[in-house]
Amino acid sequence: MRSFEGNRVIQHTGTEFPIFQAPIGLISRAPLVGAVAEAGGVGLLETASLPIPQLQEQYEELRGRTDKPFGIHLMVGTLSRMPDRADAVLDWALDGKTRFVTTGYGDPTRFIQRIKDAGVVTYHLTDSIDEALRAQDAGVDGVVLGGAEKGGGHRADALHTFALLQKARKQLHVPIVASGGIVDGIGMAAAFALGAEGIWMGTRFIASAECPWSPEYKQEIVDCNAVISIDLNFPVIPSMRAVRNQFSEAVSRGEAGDRNKMYAGEPLKLFYEGRTDLALAGCGESGVLIDEVKSAGQIVRDTVDEFWTEIERLSGLLTPRAVATV
Ligand SMILES: Cc1cc2nc3c(=O)[nH]c(=O)nc-3n(C[C@H](O)[C@H](O)[C@H](O)COP(=O)(O)O)c2cc1C
Repeated sequence: MRSFEGNRVIQHTGTEFPIFQAPIGLISRAPLVGAVAEAGGVGLLETASLPIPQLQEQYEELRGRTDKPFGIHLMVGTLSRMPDRADAVLDWALDGKTRFVTTGYGDPTRFIQRIKDAGVVTYHLTDSIDEALRAQDAGVDGVVLGGAEKGGGHRADALHTFALLQKARKQLHVPIVASGGIVDGIGMAAAFALGAEGIWMGTRFIASAECPWSPEYKQEIVDCNAVISIDLNFPVIPSMRAVRNQFSEAVSRGEAGDRNKMYAGEPLKLFYEGRTDLALAGCGESGVLIDEVKSAGQIVRDTVDEFWTEIERLSGLLTPRAVATV
């Protein structure tokens, strides 16, 4: 029988499947979050790029799109630098509208008690086992661990998903959600084998119908056969991975772009005008695994189907004879 019953992540989120859509800034809004939630996944509304009244509009639009659960993501790094904004966002997120929040990109410990006092479940996103342990000690209900193959920024010394998960499962008792290099149910089954109870996908959902970014950016991901890692002059994003194309190769040679800027150029012209020659087409190593743009709901459904197919394939190793000889 196929069932996620007993999976701690879905017990926490209230969703059907432990499949998260990463809360990427500018795209993780009502159309995408609503489609993921409606398909049974964990949609996450990002809070970094909108003032509170517009966040509330997004929330209401979302509620009009689905009556299923979704979560709210708090960018700790940004909030820590702006205490007034932090208070306003936390007041808004914790006023009973959601049972589930995630934190990321910074030390969440100062916010955790407040989140827990509000009776809200919280998971923390990090690429560091030490930070995950601190978050666990501070009372988070789960952690999202991002391996170094992920998109959106990484550190040169960060562990990749394969080693990271195996090490983490020995040290953490809260549920682990795996992020980095996962686009489908095969990756999901692999992550579960290594100790994860959920997955978190970013690049896969950039190449979705509901992502508002340009068709040209999505096509770069679909056509991607190789990625490139570029060092940037940002403490939070020391290195960024992108599709290997003419622009990223020129940036790596020092012949184009500006490493003091996000995406080494003019990302808004890439996102909304399709100018792949003006900014890095950011993606994880997972970019090489994506070969079509799909609706977000289809991504969730296909991932679940592929996951169970993969689990069945692996359980085929348990032939009666093999069991008898164990
Ligand atoms: C282009 C790009 C932008 C990203 N921006 C954000 C962001 O704004 N906030 C965030 O929490 N994570 C961001 N991420 C990281 C994702 O949360 C996630 O950790 C990552 O995409 C996982 O790796 P994957 O792309 O292989 O699935 C971004 C990822 C990519 C590829």
